[in-house]
Amino acid sequence: MAKFTLNGKPVNVQVDPSTPILWTLRDSLNLTGTKFGCGIAACGACTVHMNGAAIRSCVTPVSVAEGASINTIEAMAGDRVGKAVQDAWVKHDVAQCGYCQSGQIMSATALLKGKKNPTDADIDAAMAGNICRCGTYQRIRAAIKDAAKAIA
Ligand code: FES
Ligand code: FES
Repeated sequence: MAKFTLNGKPVNVQVDPSTPILWTLRDSLNLTGTKFGCGIAACGACTVHMNGAAIRSCVTPVSVAEGASINTIEAMAGDRVGKAVQDAWVKHDVAQCGYCQSGQIMSATALLKGKKNPTDADIDAAMAGNICRCGTYQRIRAAIKDAAKAIA
């Protein structure tokens, strides 16, 4: 069993404590916006926020989330910074195949919540773990800068 706050609501889910948060979200809680890419913390597709920090849910057991606040891509439309990031993503046509993009948006949102006006180096550092096989990196950088202006 695991108890935590998910997208602002308490959840109490029957899973083995060693189950990764990713599979708890997808298989037990039917939140499929968080994606599986590599399973070894190497691609960022599974990124969610735990107590505000971007984490790789594929390698984080749900026991670590006990009592924590987890936010996923499904909550970003109702989040001021997350919504600004999503709007900028649309404006810049960032998504191509789209598979990596929920993870990209979660990392970008965590960055902008911590740094309202990130430099290129800040963006590189925050986004380095999010891989995009479609090569949307230039659009991602432009969208993050636009989102930063929108929330200033
Ligand atoms: S699926 Fe978690 S980092 Fe790739
Ligand atoms: S948009 Fe296709 S992997 Fe990133």
